[in-house]
Amino acid sequence: MGVYQVMNKKLLTWVDEIKTLCEPDSVEWCDGSQEEYDRLCNLMVQSGTFIKLNEEKRPGSYLCRSNPADVARVENRTFIASKTKEEAGPTNNWTDPDELKRIMLDLYKGCMKGRTMFVIPFSMGPIGSSIAHIGIEITDSPYVVANMRIMTRMGKKVIDALGDGHFVKCLHSVGAPLKDSEKDAPWPCNPDSKYISHFPEEKMIWSYGSGYGGNALLGKKCFALRIASVQAREEGWMAEHMLILGITNPEGVKKYIAAAFPSACGKTNLAMLIPTIPGWKVECIGDDIAWMKIGEDGRLYAINPEAGFFGVAPGTSMYSNPNAMLSLTKNSIFTNVAQTDDNDVWWEEIDGDVPAHLTDWKGNDWTPASTEKASHPNARFTAPAEQCPVIDPKWEDPNGVPIDAILFGGRRPSVIPLVNEAKSWEHGVFLGSVMGSEKTAAAAGKVGELRRDPFAMLPFCGYHMADYFAHWLSMPQRTDRSKLPRLYYVNWFRKNSEGKWLWPGYGENSRVLKWVIERVMNIAKAVETPIGNLPTVDAIDVSGLDISKEDMQELVYFDKEQWKNEAASIREYYTMYEGKLPKTLIDQLDALEKDLQK
Ligand code: OXD
Ligand code: MN
Repeated sequence: MGVYQVMNKKLLTWVDEIKTLCEPDSVEWCDGSQEEYDRLCNLMVQSGTFIKLNEEKRPGSYLCRSNPADVARVENRTFIASKTKEEAGPTNNWTDPDELKRIMLDLYKGCMKGRTMFVIPFSMGPIGSSIAHIGIEITDSPYVVANMRIMTRMGKKVIDALGDGHFVKCLHSVGAPLKDSEKDAPWPCNPDSKYISHFPEEKMIWSYGSGYGGNALLGKKCFALRIASVQAREEGWMAEHMLILGITNPEGVKKYIAAAFPSACGKTNLAMLIPTIPGWKVECIGDDIAWMKIGEDGRLYAINPEAGFFGVAPGTSMYSNPNAMLSLTKNSIFTNVAQTDDNDVWWEEIDGDVPAHLTDWKGNDWTPASTEKASHPNARFTAPAEQCPVIDPKWEDPNGVPIDAILFGGRRPSVIPLVNEAKSWEHGVFLGSVMGSEKTAAAAGKVGELRRDPFAMLPFCGYHMADYFAHWLSMPQRTDRSKLPRLYYVNWFRKNSEGKWLWPGYGENSRVLKWVIERVMNIAKAVETPIGNLPTVDAIDVSGLDISKEDMQELVYFDKEQWKNEAASIREYYTMYEGKLPKTLIDQLDALEKDLQK
């Protein structure tokens, strides 16, 4: 427990208020030290929340199994409680803030009985960076404390940096008070009552009932995206659901790229990719969130506000993402993965043979004959970013890194070419506003049905999506437009008429990054089309790759008829923003339709 002086009056008053409201047995201020982390992990081992993993195989690491009723972000219980419904817009769940507070204050009353209340000072971004911001999370979950220590810069050093300054109030409770001498559950939560609430005007987050991921680690989606998007709009910067990577060519020229993809499109894989083209290098700044601000030289600079990776485990392997696998060899927390008989972790598609026996994510015996998956599809690893073998030397630079290109993408088996360069910033914003993924057979809903996920921000934008588009469109007024990054729409998931992937993906995506970078350097070839600048058939470097000329042609093909349907679908989709959609975007759509008639 931290013994340090806190001078910030607002913070002291707030902590007192919450203590009176939630009635914990005790209060601990987290100092962020290794001793504190070890002590809490040991306590969780004793209470049955954590299992210490095989120290030889996975040093300093723990396994945790959640309540099966608490396994993912709950979008339908996530609220943007702005003063009016109009401000939250058509893509958010809105609730009247006074009404929501009344309900939640009732729930919070005495909700920490029998528990310790932890106060976690944390910084999103390197401490002292002019792009970073401080939050304080109050929680009754030691699991949250341990994860926040990996995912953020946390503890006494943040209190020192805060001084009298502003912080975002983040209140969290698992919503499971303990009666006298009642034994705690390994994963306390409230399966029947969950609220993930945001109060944008007050820059405040109230979360109740869930202990999992983005519902509970409030620095991540709640603060760094939903609340920060509101702050960014007010202050003229950008809070985006983007990875950031650095790419260096054989001549040593380095550029930085940010990229927005909806969940389940391989963002973590791209962020740490190993290029297959000789002499090229990719380094990782972050895999999920980018905060970007115009620097003194007029360019857009980005930081990763996080300090760790909270990645989906199933599907991660030495084949799909060796650098992620090497990041989680030690000092990591694994939630809802399976456990091997020698006390290590296992998940679907991990390397090696499937073991003859496992303990599954629910704690039951599992064999290859079992009909259920051994790990939960949303099982996660929490791993320190500094353990990533390709972490960029500038990943903690308080000034951030200058972004040269921004990619938008999604899973689109048809219509969208492998890569397409926007004609202008405005055209790029148009492309970002219509991005999305088609549903596959594995997901509920009609196959081929498109879920538009503008800028991959659908679940994460803290205000009206059309105002968010307008904010993007305002960037050229804030700097010399020639200094802004170029914008691209990519699609690794195009299929041929037989339903086969046309592009191999993974490390081969470096070939597309190469074209992007060479466009930025004005040395790569492209053809102008109504939808943007497409690579010529020979412009993408496919040396050493077994891909036919026909497939390559199809990958960069622009199909006028399909695009006429796409334009009609965009027009229909845009009606949901009626009255608020910036005219610039309607002009873009009009121009596209006109060009398609030619
Ligand atoms: C995530 C998500 O967990 O985008 O990062 O869903
Ligand atoms: Mn994400």
